[in-house]
Amino acid sequence: MAHIPELTILQPADKEQIDLPRTSEDELAVGKKRLYIESYGCQMNFADSEIVAAVMRNAGFATTSSAEEADLIFLNTCAIRDNAEQKVRNRLKHLTGLKRQKPELLVGMLGCMAERLKTKLLEEEKVVDIVAGPDAYRDIPKLVEEAESGQKAVNVFLSREETYADISPIRLNSNGVTAFVSIMRGCDNMCSFCVVPFTRGRERSRDPHSIVREAQDLFDQGYREVTLLGQNVDSYKWQGRSDGSAEGMGHGVDSSTQPSAITTFANLLEMVAQIHPDLRVRFSTSHPKDITDDVLHTMARYENICNYIHLPAQSGNSRVLKLMNRTYDREWYVGKIDRIREILGEDCGISTDMISGFCTETEDEHEESLSLMDYVHYDYAYMFAYSERPGTLAAKKYADDIPEDVKKRRLNEIIAKQLTHSAERNQRHIGQVQRVLIEGPSKRSDDFLCGRNDQNKMVVFPKGNLQKGQYVNVLVTECTSATLRGEVV
Ligand code: SAH
Ligand code: SF4
Ligand code: F3S
Repeated sequence: MAHIPELTILQPADKEQIDLPRTSEDELAVGKKRLYIESYGCQMNFADSEIVAAVMRNAGFATTSSAEEADLIFLNTCAIRDNAEQKVRNRLKHLTGLKRQKPELLVGMLGCMAERLKTKLLEEEKVVDIVAGPDAYRDIPKLVEEAESGQKAVNVFLSREETYADISPIRLNSNGVTAFVSIMRGCDNMCSFCVVPFTRGRERSRDPHSIVREAQDLFDQGYREVTLLGQNVDSYKWQGRSDGSAEGMGHGVDSSTQPSAITTFANLLEMVAQIHPDLRVRFSTSHPKDITDDVLHTMARYENICNYIHLPAQSGNSRVLKLMNRTYDREWYVGKIDRIREILGEDCGISTDMISGFCTETEDEHEESLSLMDYVHYDYAYMFAYSERPGTLAAKKYADDIPEDVKKRRLNEIIAKQLTHSAERNQRHIGQVQRVLIEGPSKRSDDFLCGRNDQNKMVVFPKGNLQKGQYVNVLVTECTSATLRGEVV
């Protein structure tokens, strides 16, 4: 097994951090003030940075890919585990040096760490001028103005309604082929280990018409894949008139117009899938308590809805799941896996998130996480050692009593098991022809292109005369636990 330098391995958006600094350049930057945004954490945070870029462009800022050239630097932060926050603290040390050379530079903290720490951040990190929580992004130009006049500026109000539905995101560091679309915000689930309900506020769904419009625009611009994002996409729910306006959400309602209908996640998936057969649709994250047969049948009906489900288990033991407040037990979770296999077949990709060493977890209970993995044979997993987060239910109710070395050893066992399963699941594809959407050149060599198959696996193949954004059929000839390789047929 590869060496594991830390307690955790990278999660989806953490992977992106390898490519930091991450912004895009504005061609019309001459004479404008320049903004540099760096994003941490989950895909939703990366999607939010694109909303912030749009708000700031309206306020006369251009984006730059160089922190050194910027007049304004935003860190869009994550608070999910302690090490996510430490990463940002280290980055702030570097920015302190930069500001010493350039005193007029302004530094803003956005996102979940900003929301968690609020004004405390200003006390603890002198380099920070602006603190804005996830629901305060429309207010950022005003906060910047305040900061320019020499005052520290803060807005960490959480909203019950804000979805930024009307803002067209500016795609940062885009490959021009795949894009994220937020369909909801917040989370009402209160898993006991998790800080997200505190940093992102109450769950609210976005107007489906604005989602379809955004996906259609992306398709028209040449994008060929959208990933619909939410902390728990299966609880997406919109009740509104057919003109798209909401009911019961503080908007004026005229009862004389058409009766309201509820749009579920399955309905939304279908609406997006119908935009065009060449537009691939993915989504994340599904919650085992909420995913329905309706969603699975919709996936089965549409070729362009990808056969891949991220269904985090967190633990394989029912007692631990109860302490985690996940509201399902092992049997329920296994039942969902069986339904996926029944309706979508053995080839449907399934991934999970796993936490090792949650409060009071015994060796036997840890073994049950491993045995669940053996039952499912996940294609992929994001695996973490438990990190206590201040203010969460678990921090209040349970002692963080598993020693760090035990958490780490259990995590390593989980990772080792996953590596064998990933390799096995990838080997299944050898000899198969896979439909791949080309995303661009492979990281290792310009002579190769890469893109993902239906199950979200990266496939690498010789470049030929192909272009990104095209679909190709690739005969898979070899694989590692991370990638498939093959030839175009
Ligand atoms: N909404 C998603 C998860 C979002 S957070 C869901 O419910 O599945 C992404 C992952 O981070 C979680 O699935 C969990 O595995 C991990 N995580 C969250 N809080 C954590 C903590 N305090 N310590 C370790 N891992 C944690
Ligand atoms: Fe956190 Fe649970 Fe909500 Fe996921 S569902 S964001 S783990 S509280
Ligand atoms: Fe995402 Fe991290 Fe916030 S995982 S929701 S950015 S705490």
